[in-house]
Amino acid sequence: TSGGSDAMKRRAGESAAAAVSDGDVVGLGTGSTAAHAIRRLGDRVDAGLDVRGVPTSFASRELAVEEAIPCLDLPDAVGPDGPGIDLAIDGADQVATGGGEEDTGSGARGDAPVSGGALIKGGGAAHAREKLVDAAADRFLVVADPSKESPRLDRSVPVEVLPAGRTAVAAAVREAGGEPTLRRAERKDGPVVTDNGNLVLDCAFGEIDAPASLAATLSSIPGVVEHGLFVGLADEIHVGTESGVRVDEA
Ligand code: A5P
Repeated sequence: TSGGSDAMKRRAGESAAAAVSDGDVVGLGTGSTAAHAIRRLGDRVDAGLDVRGVPTSFASRELAVEEAIPCLDLPDAVGPDGPGIDLAIDGADQVATGGGEEDTGSGARGDAPVSGGALIKGGGAAHAREKLVDAAADRFLVVADPSKESPRLDRSVPVEVLPAGRTAVAAAVREAGGEPTLRRAERKDGPVVTDNGNLVLDCAFGEIDAPASLAATLSSIPGVVEHGLFVGLADEIHVGTESGVRVDEA
C-alpha cells in the first residue's frame, strides 16, 4: 500500500515470522509488510508448524484463510479462558527512531523527548483492531523498511471516529493543533468506512515531539474510537534493508 521496496518488506516480514514458535498464538497484522510475514507463516504451517492466528482486519483474515492458518477471534484469544497472544507481527506507516528516552505523556507537547519505537499506524484504516491485538500480545514485533523510519513522527495521525461524532471530533482535533481531513474512498463516492463501520479523520500535527501526550489527548476526545499513535507498545523493530534485516529493541 505504501512506498519502500517489496524485497525489503519481505525480508522484514520473514524475519518476524521466523520468531514464531510451535504452539504460538500470533497476532496477524495488516498491510503489505505484515502480509509477507503471514505468507511465510503459511509456508511454516504447510511444513507442520502448529500456530493459531488472530487477524487484525478483514484483509489479514482473508490472507490467513488463503494460507490455511487456523484463526481465533480476539475475544476468544484474550480473557480468563483464552490462550492469550504470544506475539503480534504488524507493519507501521512511520517508526520513530529518536532517542528512546521516555515520553511519559505528562509533559507539554513540544517539551518531552520523542519515544524511540513510537509508531503511526492506520494507513489501511485497521489501527483500532491492530491496537487491540498488538497491545494484548506478550511481544509486539514491528515489520518495516527503512522508508518508514524517521527521527520524528510527522505523518498525519489516522483517527477512527463514530460517524455521528465526525464534526465534533474534527473541531476538537483543530483545538489540539491538528488539521483533520475526512479520508475519502478511491473507488466510491464518499468516505472510507472501516471494518468497524466508522470513519477516519487523517489529522496533520506537523512534527510530533511528544507522542504519548498527543495520544492521551486524542484518546480523551468523545467520539474517538481509536487513533493511530502506538506509544510504548512495540518490543522489536525488524527493518528489512538492501542486504538483510536489522532488529532493534524498542
Ligand atoms: C494498517 O492500518 C496500517 O496500520 C498498516 O500496518 C500500515 O499501513 C503498513 O502497511 P504497509 O506495510 O503496506 O506499508
